[in-house]
Amino acid sequence: ASYDMGGHDTYMHKEISEQPDAVDRVLRGRIDDRFSTVHLGGLNLDPREARGIRRVKILGCGTSYHAGLIGAGLIESLARIPADAEPASEFRYRNPVVDPDTLYIAVSQSGETYDVLAAVQELKRKGARVLGVVNVVGSAIAREADGGVYVHAGPEVCVVSTKCFTNTVTAFALLALHLGRIRDLSVADGKRIIEGLRKLPAQIQEILEGEEDIKKLAAEYAEAKSMMFIGRVRGYPVALEASLKLKEISYIHAEAYPASELKHGPLALIEPAMPTVAIVPDDDLLEKNRAALEEIKARSGRILAVAHRVQEKADHTILVPKNEDELDPILMGIPLQLLAYHTALALGRDIDKPRNLAKSVTVE
Ligand code: AGP
Repeated sequence: ASYDMGGHDTYMHKEISEQPDAVDRVLRGRIDDRFSTVHLGGLNLDPREARGIRRVKILGCGTSYHAGLIGAGLIESLARIPADAEPASEFRYRNPVVDPDTLYIAVSQSGETYDVLAAVQELKRKGARVLGVVNVVGSAIAREADGGVYVHAGPEVCVVSTKCFTNTVTAFALLALHLGRIRDLSVADGKRIIEGLRKLPAQIQEILEGEEDIKKLAAEYAEAKSMMFIGRVRGYPVALEASLKLKEISYIHAEAYPASELKHGPLALIEPAMPTVAIVPDDDLLEKNRAALEEIKARSGRILAVAHRVQEKADHTILVPKNEDELDPILMGIPLQLLAYHTALALGRDIDKPRNLAKSVTVE
């Protein structure tokens, strides 16, 4: 990699730190205050077509798949279109039913991931409309798609994705707002989301300023052989991504589960040697999430909560600033990037180039 590290010891740290600017870039020039919506120049989707969409199917791999899961939630809640995400690598091998009223969205940092590209090509061969949510301009997936949204995270060198994940989710919020305002989202709700989006860069900066505290926590949890990550609805993809990040760079085994599923099995794993990271936003599911913390505490599990207020049942709470409920997942993942980073650092791992992984997987 030939990019300047700008005084950071690793590209990962540089890229985590760049997130306030990166998010500012994905928003810049796209917000339309007059109509409380956003302009997405490359979308190639006129309002009449947008109204005809009956479903949204999002495809990506790894971190991009996780960003797609949050994206699906945003599209469902803001545009009220049924939406889901699936690993592109699975989708292309199951002879999927391709439906003309479904909008397909391919997500990729590199724009070169073979499993995603092959899924796009198969979809296009079957006459589907495919959009891209891509970082690298002019990449294979961007060229193959009918239109899309560039993520504008800037070059990402570290093998594990951080700023591109955050920007991709933010790009999905823009897309969801755009589709929502063509369909049933009110002007007032459009405004509310726009105000929330504008707060993101400063709120990310605030989270980054808590790095020293997160570093201390990482030293404590670095001894764990295995960790559990839980969240509910919007928080679940945050848990999935945080657990992937920890696995990739620290090589600590981690599992992610919906908090609601604990009692259906994984609760059997909980003991002092298996700490849990819990995503606990101040939203309509707060009480449900607190009940899960109690279940874990009753089994002597250690808990690190990421929350908007201190959680009494948790051994530690990382506080994050509150945004709109729909946008909270963008912020809640960021301290967990730092947790994974400092855990890997404490264990002496090769953070920018974890073993067995490549930045983009361009082969089958
Ligand atoms: C590195 O291992 C990444 N975290 C990986 O999961 C990546 O997100 C995946 O390979 C997809 O890459 P893409 O976004 O470039 O398509």
